[in-house]
Amino acid sequence: MHPKSLVNIDDYSREDIFRILQSAARFKQQPDRALLQGKVCATLFFEPSTRTRLSFETAVNRLRGRIIGFSDAATSSSTKGESLKDTIMMVSNYADLIIMRHHLEGSARYASEISPVPVVNAGDGSNQHPTQTLLDLFTIYETQGTLENLTVTIVGDLKYGRAVHSLIQGLSHFSPTFNFVAPEELHIPDKYRTFCDEKKIPYNEYTDFTSESIRNADILYMTRVQKERFTDLMEYEKVKNVYVLHNDMLADSKENLRVLHPLPRVKEICQDVDDNPKAYYFQQARNGVYTRQAVICELMGIEVE
Ligand code: CP
Repeated sequence: MHPKSLVNIDDYSREDIFRILQSAARFKQQPDRALLQGKVCATLFFEPSTRTRLSFETAVNRLRGRIIGFSDAATSSSTKGESLKDTIMMVSNYADLIIMRHHLEGSARYASEISPVPVVNAGDGSNQHPTQTLLDLFTIYETQGTLENLTVTIVGDLKYGRAVHSLIQGLSHFSPTFNFVAPEELHIPDKYRTFCDEKKIPYNEYTDFTSESIRNADILYMTRVQKERFTDLMEYEKVKNVYVLHNDMLADSKENLRVLHPLPRVKEICQDVDDNPKAYYFQQARNGVYTRQAVICELMGIEVE
């Protein structure tokens, strides 16, 4: 077991988060730095990805490290019945860092407990997506100039959305107020309600997505309904287009409001929002490279000047 892994955003304190954001800001100023020469990073993606995998791989390339791995588990020996344990033990023979996405909740924790090299959780089922949260926090700081005392409206699939679960925990250090907007079927799990209650974080819950839940927000965090988590596709059909953000819904929003989305989007943000200066989701995704450069260096004990 390696002592330095990033499995859950709760692994990081407020100070840890600020250290990563500061390092990410340095990478945003100057992304090309030969800090990973001679190092190999492995990306093991048992689930599909565009942003997380490619931004991690870009991060490693810009640091002059090397990348191995797979983007489709069907091309790995897991299809022959190889266990996750054996896969991790094998890959740790080849790589200095393992970046893994897996459909099973807790898989990243398990991998981190057996791996001799650090493991980064790039998403484990509906549970956690900690590097998404770090890039979200970086983007929130970039657009708001602070992380403190913000009102954050989170819309969509709050049940299965791992980016949502991590974001709630990541923001909990900074006195947020949450507006949770979700249909009954996809409301926030009790675990996160209890988390907010214990931390004395105020939150409002809505089932209708109206201007009311946007008007007082500093951040509007839209999410996709996670089709891949439904066991009954009829249930997915009922909720798949339940909320759609149209440009005119932003008319009365605060000047500093920014619309974020972990992406991919399906239909929950109309394309007419893209040209609104308050839309910030593509810049948010770009920040994933710098934040992941910072995470890689943190886990490999590399100082970023
Ligand atoms: N935000 C995110 O995790 O995107 P991908 O699924 O494309 O990696």
